[in-house]
Amino acid sequence: MKKRRKRKPVYRSNAPILILCLSLILVLSILCLVFIRREQAADSARIVGTVPTTAVSETSVSGNTSGSPDAAGTAVTSDASPASDPAAAAAVSTLTPTPADTNQTGGSAASASENDWALLLVNTSHPVPDGYTVDLLELSNGRKIDRRIYPSLQAMFDAARSEGLSLFVREGYRTTEDQQKLYDERIQRYLDEGKSQEEAEKLTRDYVALPGTSEHELGLAVDINSDSSEEGTQALYAWLYEHSDEYGFVKRYAEDKIDITGISNEPWHYRYVGVEAAKEMKSKNLCLEEYTELKS
Ligand code: DAL
Ligand code: ZN
Repeated sequence: MKKRRKRKPVYRSNAPILILCLSLILVLSILCLVFIRREQAADSARIVGTVPTTAVSETSVSGNTSGSPDAAGTAVTSDASPASDPAAAAAVSTLTPTPADTNQTGGSAASASENDWALLLVNTSHPVPDGYTVDLLELSNGRKIDRRIYPSLQAMFDAARSEGLSLFVREGYRTTEDQQKLYDERIQRYLDEGKSQEEAEKLTRDYVALPGTSEHELGLAVDINSDSSEEGTQALYAWLYEHSDEYGFVKRYAEDKIDITGISNEPWHYRYVGVEAAKEMKSKNLCLEEYTELKS
């Protein structure tokens, strides 16, 4: 009688194929994960985009002799500095924040006690402390900010964009040397317009803090602009004023606080102070000088 050959079980003969399939699935999963992480990193670049030549900040000077923006806050042209060149900005690499950072909301950045650093007051009578150091994070257009404010800033930008607004960081951290250069250039422009030295200095100080006393030197302040029309700019300023406290930011220089801050109305300049402080400052209409005094 012919002996029937015993057939190998199917699962055994197919084992190599199964192993190959599983390996392929594993490799594909890893590739997907890498792709998702890269997308998250790219997301961080959305904060800034490029810097249009009509950007508004204290680095810009208007055509009028007072150097202030018009009522609409847009009658300015930007300095043609390399940093504001969109091509140059696009060429700058972005540091990749951690996924945890990109997922954080403004309200969860840190508790009030952890945020003491965010309440550091800097003005003419409170210079940047000696030896102050900042852990900077570079944005995709080359602007830099204190790394700690990034999650809140990103959350605020995401929220604004989800409502159809266009915005970018026009100015972030400045060294004291940057501030000095800005200050000197502004004075020179006024002198060129025929102002006296005294007038030029006074007009400059309305919008540019004395070097060594600017909160841009802390990395905690940003100038936020819209790259859309004047209408879009106004809509952005209104939105920021309305919602920035939810993310821990305050409009630092308001019209009704000029006698305290010494700085004119700057609808573009936002300062990180933490959510709790920002909400209280807004609800009680306090500037940072008043708030820190209240808490001392
Ligand atoms: N524009 C603000 C006052 C600064 O220069 O820091
Ligand atoms: Zn500013």
